Amino acid sequence: MIVGVPREIYPKERRVALVPAAIPNLKKAGMEIYIEANAGLAAGYPNKEYEEKGAKIVAERAEIFRTADIIVQFLCHGANDKTGSQDLALLRKGQVLIGFLRPLGTVKTLQEIAERGVTSFAVELMPRTTRAQSMDVLSSMATICGYKAVLVAAETLPRMFPMLTTAAGTIAPARVLIIGAGVAGLQAIAAARRLGAVASAYDMRPASKEQVQSLGGRFVELAIEAKDAQDASGYAKAQDESFYQKQRELLGNVIAESDVVITAAVIPGKKSPVLVTKEMVARMRPGSVIVDLAAERGGNCELTKPDEITVVKGVTIIGEYNLAGTVPYHASQMFARNISAFLLHLVKDGKLALNLQDEIMRETLVTRDGEVVNAKVREFFSMPALQTAPAGGAD
Ligand SMILES: NC(=O)c1ccc[n+]([C@@H]2O[C@H](COP(=O)([O-])OP(=O)(O)OC[C@H]3O[C@@H](n4cnc5c(N)ncnc54)[C@H](O)[C@@H]3O)[C@@H](O)[C@H]2O)c1
Repeated sequence: MIVGVPREIYPKERRVALVPAAIPNLKKAGMEIYIEANAGLAAGYPNKEYEEKGAKIVAERAEIFRTADIIVQFLCHGANDKTGSQDLALLRKGQVLIGFLRPLGTVKTLQEIAERGVTSFAVELMPRTTRAQSMDVLSSMATICGYKAVLVAAETLPRMFPMLTTAAGTIAPARVLIIGAGVAGLQAIAAARRLGAVASAYDMRPASKEQVQSLGGRFVELAIEAKDAQDASGYAKAQDESFYQKQRELLGNVIAESDVVITAAVIPGKKSPVLVTKEMVARMRPGSVIVDLAAERGGNCELTKPDEITVVKGVTIIGEYNLAGTVPYHASQMFARNISAFLLHLVKDGKLALNLQDEIMRETLVTRDGEVVNAKVREFFSMPALQTAPAGGAD
């Protein structure tokens, strides 16, 4: 069983899907690892380190696709909406593809992968269960985004974060508000606190209050309650517009008093709710900073421009998408750890052991035998349920 790791080709992408430290475990399980030459270089992993751990360096990208049984990539076609289609012609029938596929983005890219006869798994669809925790790539990337959002805000803010008492007077600490205290939001609270800011956070899931407080953050209570705030998997559920309207009214004052607002309120598979309107931005002090971690899904701030930095009335709004990619060493390390756990789950005795009774495999499998087979994905795109759905059994 050959696992191939091509170099990422999304413009300026520096991450790599497997790091040298991940290789010995995979080899022990009967996998051979082929790495495209210099695939890890920009993340801080030179070819030599891969070779020392027993991987083979392959000069030609096409050779990786020609020889590998399983391709692991960060941004596969779909998630790489700029250059990902270049790989389509290289994929072959029966090959397995694992990585970010953006399964709820556009169905066309998934169909194109299906038409190549590829069995693909989208890491975005990993279930939120204890069993799958070690494979949860989204949480890994959210951890980095939350941390990095604080650094980017601190760099942009014309003020310092910590409180200082100096001969030149007292410097008040920066006030950082985090909206959406999921994995990214909680990491942002921790990072903001480490830099000495006063951190507050708001989330509509009541369960997050304790987590915010345990990190030394103040929990912002709003006098509204979300209906069924979270689903069985721990994801937030979409609310009606009157809820969001009320939320905006109540959040307005808290936002106006903040120097930094980091928004990370997303609803899986849906456009992000607008929680910061242009009127709210106008009430913020000039120099204030908003980092919108929901930018890729439309943004939590009305003024966010996708993947851009804008300044409106002195307030900087950062809508950059790929903050996790700006920490390529650790992003690659975490991704590799998650993907290795997934590979060890999928491959038994050197063969793909596809078992659709297994929740992890069933939920992440997107294409197989020329079709988009994932039930959630089909429902999302209003495709009819498959008559002969591969309901179970080993492959
Ligand atoms: N394997 C596991 O068990 C596992 C893995 C990852 C996360 N989780 C848990 O799932 C939860 C969500 O984590 P996430 O970071 O993936 O979530 P997410 O990225 O889906 O959403 C981020 C946060 O935004 C919040 N949000 C959405 N709409 C909002 C609104 N209108 N107002 C305020 N807040 C809003 C959500 O409640 C969530 O906390 C957390 O409790 C996390 O610990 C569990």
